[in-house]
Parts: sequence; C-alpha cells; structure tokens
Amino acid sequence: MTAILSTKSLTKEFGGLVAVNKVSLDFEKGSLKSIIGPNGSGKTTFFNLLTGVLKPTSGSIFLNDRDIAGLAPHTISQLGISRSYQITNIFPYLTTFENIRLAVQSRGNTQVHYNLVGKASSYAEYHEETFRFADLIGIDPIRLYAPASLLPHAEQRKLEIAMALATNPKLLLLDEPTAGMSVEEIPEIYEILLKIKKSFGDNLTMIVIEHKMGIVMKISQEVIVLSQGSVLAKGTPKEIQNNENVLSAYLGGIHEFT
Ligand SMILES: Nc1ncnc2c1ncn2[C@@H]1O[C@H](COP(=O)(O)OP(=O)(O)O)[C@@H](O)[C@H]1O
Ligand SMILES: [Mg+2]
Repeated sequence: MTAILSTKSLTKEFGGLVAVNKVSLDFEKGSLKSIIGPNGSGKTTFFNLLTGVLKPTSGSIFLNDRDIAGLAPHTISQLGISRSYQITNIFPYLTTFENIRLAVQSRGNTQVHYNLVGKASSYAEYHEETFRFADLIGIDPIRLYAPASLLPHAEQRKLEIAMALATNPKLLLLDEPTAGMSVEEIPEIYEILLKIKKSFGDNLTMIVIEHKMGIVMKISQEVIVLSQGSVLAKGTPKEIQNNENVLSAYLGGIHEFT
C-alpha cells in the first residue's frame, strides 16, 4: 500500500524540550491508525506540525510526494488535511446546520472560506451535502436549527467531526474525539468513526489520537505509541496491548492504560 502521508525524522523543539523527536511514520491510503501515549508525549504537537499550526524544527512531512512541512495552515487545509481539536472548536452563535454548511462551502476555496453569503445557485447543493453529513454523524435533526452552543457537549464533538469531514479531506485528524464525554457516550463516537471509515473507504485516511485503549482496540488497524516525543512502539492493537515497553510507559506514570 502506498502511503498518502509520511513523516521523516520529524522534530519539534520548544526551547530545550524536544516535544516531537525524529518521528518517521507512514500512513497508508485508506487506513485508520491511532496514536496513543501519556499526557505530554507529543501527540497534539505532531498534529500541529501536520496541519501547519507549528513549523517543524527539522524533518519532513510528505503528503503524497510533496513536502508540506512548514506550509501555512490554510494551504495544508486546501491540500486535503482536516482536523478536529481536543477542545471543541465551533461557531457557538450559528446554528448547527450553518456550522456544517460553512464547512461544506469552504471546500477547496479560500475565497468563500467561512463566508455566509455563497453563490445562490449552489445553495441546493450545499444544503443537500449539509444534511448528508449531519445524518452520517448522527446529529439529531431537531437540533439542526438551534445555536450550536446549545448542543450538549457530546453533540458538539460530533458536530466538530462533521465539520472536519464536510471540508472533504483526504486525511482526517481527530484529537481525542471522546474527550470530556461520559462512558455511556463513548461507544457512539467509535461507531461513528467506523461508519465514516466504511462510508469513505480508500478515499479517506484517518489518524485518531485517543487515550482510551478500549476504543483504540476496536477501531485501529495500527496503533502508534508516543513517549516523550519518540515512537516507543507500533503494531496491531493486540501487539501493543502486550508490549512490555508500552505497559511500563503507562504503568510507570500516573496515566491509566484504559
Ligand atoms: N506551544 C508550545 N510551547 C511550548 N511547549 C509546548 C507547546 N505545545 C506543547 N508543548 C509541550 O510539548 C510537550 C508535548 O505536548 P503535547 O503535544 O500537547 O502532548 P500530548 O498531546 O501528547 O498530551 C509537552 O511537554 C508540552 O508542554
Ligand atoms: Mg493532546
């Protein structure tokens, strides 16, 4: 399988701290891989490098054959990398419907990026797509026309996934999509991730940062473990669960391997 995304010795230093340390990873087209690791192990920083939020200190990031390291976030977004954040990132005063519609409208065109007034001729198409994503993510239709800020937290996280997906990315990066959710709410999220995977097939590659091992085991083809910025291990969920180094990295710290 060809990799859609490859990092080569990717490194980010903050002063004396090496947050991401010579990370070389391949993400094959259509794959769903998870990144786990204790708090502060560099997971979010890795995403920030991939999306251009931070410039690498050294190393490369190849999207197909193009080195995108250090490009501006909007350029990288146009090239097809989209993400959701660890912290909910929606337009609170717009309705849920409008939040998704703006993401649909923003596709590959920075001129209409988050522009409320699009081309009238395209409205029908935008609306249809908006409903399609709301349905795919399982957002309650009754809630579509209320301000997004009124959605319960778990629904807001779902909305964020819908928005990231609605930009039609080749690569979808999700940073702790279950953060802040109750245990009852979590299964729905991984069902959604599997549904997205099935619906897009090889057209979408997913990388999910996730703390909760129960979910990681269910959704991932491969699990990558970061520890202090470096790749400690990678393998199938089963291999990772039985990996001595991984167990001690978690058990040695205060973080649960759940
Ligand atoms: N913008 C920043 N400036 C300085 N240090 C940072 C910055 N972002 C992250 N760090 C540090 O880099 C390390 C990795 O952080 P992060 O990538 O957020 O970890 P994770 O997402 O795995 O919890 C941490 O020690 C964090 O404090
Ligand atoms: Mg993080």
